[in-house]
Amino acid sequence: MRQAGRYLPEYRAIRQKAAGFLDLCFNPQLAAEVTLQPIRRFGFDAAILFSDILVVPHALGQRVTFEEGNGPRLDALNEPSALGRIDREVNQAALEPVYETIARVKQDLPAGVAFLGFCGAPWTVATYMIGGRGTPEQIPARRFAYRHAQAFTELMDVLVEASAQYLIRQFAAGVDAVQIFDTWAGVLPDDEFRRWCIAPCARIVAAIRQAVPGAKVIGFPRGAGTKLVDYVAGVPVDAVGLDWMIAADFARARIQSVRPVQGNLDPVALLAGGAVLDSAIDAILETFGAGPFIFNLGHGVLPDTPIAHVERLVAQVRDARA
Ligand code: CP3
Repeated sequence: MRQAGRYLPEYRAIRQKAAGFLDLCFNPQLAAEVTLQPIRRFGFDAAILFSDILVVPHALGQRVTFEEGNGPRLDALNEPSALGRIDREVNQAALEPVYETIARVKQDLPAGVAFLGFCGAPWTVATYMIGGRGTPEQIPARRFAYRHAQAFTELMDVLVEASAQYLIRQFAAGVDAVQIFDTWAGVLPDDEFRRWCIAPCARIVAAIRQAVPGAKVIGFPRGAGTKLVDYVAGVPVDAVGLDWMIAADFARARIQSVRPVQGNLDPVALLAGGAVLDSAIDAILETFGAGPFIFNLGHGVLPDTPIAHVERLVAQVRDARA
């Protein structure tokens, strides 16, 4: 989940130095620094690479920009013929700065701190490529997949291959594990969930393990709910990220019983703080604490989150596990 970002003054200071957000992602010195900042400040057990899921569309030749306060903007692929504008293979040269960031972080990371790489899952990345931005309920991408199944399959195949090659290179550069973010998995009906979330993610995991035997992979199909049962049966991930919306008893009985889980504090509880935060943390430790379990948020840290709340969270979790 996101560790760096606007809630940290040291991140904002570096962000100002880079021309645009993607320039920061592609500046190995600054991106490595931003990756390490939360580790220095909070002493987390794992660091997540500072980058973005949209570097993959960029490396496929699609124009990607980030507008201040408006989020990402891409040259929308709104009809099948538009697919002709993107490359079939990822341009590894464009991603070289990310691998260099990984090598730098690896050198400076304290011993015993795990290092996570990541990519967006094909479905989630496709929603931005087709919609051209974050779109409510991902309607443009869902409509495209229904209307133009063949073209959509073609795009997903390109993204499966590109994501696998990208993650394989992240392992080669030095990450210990990778996380596949399917942030918008929750909008897919049952059949489409199998077709556009489970199947592509399973292919990525298989391709990675073929190149990197024993590679550790965490899946995060946000909003999957009860479909998580199919997800863990169909995608051979080593652990699964839980969002904050999942029913606790269901997650413990049906998911944690078959696969280690990671999660799932509501980022808004972390933002709110106080007694609500304390009891939300306790409830999670109570539900999942017997393990196998990685304490985390159910999604990324929100921009206005007070630093003191994160400090309190770390102290409380460490205290409970001491
Ligand atoms: O510690 C970290 O920050 C890890 C790096 C990381 C970022 N994005 C940096 C970032 C990770 C793991 C991501 C993943 C990502 N990016 C996802 C999947 C996970 C999730 O958060 O849902 C998605 C869907 C994206 C696409 C994306 N990137 C959006 C929609 C936005 C705009 C958000 C906004 O509030 O404007 C981004 C920008 C982004 N990526 C920021 C950061 C720190 C904020 C930009 C800034 O503060 O300068």
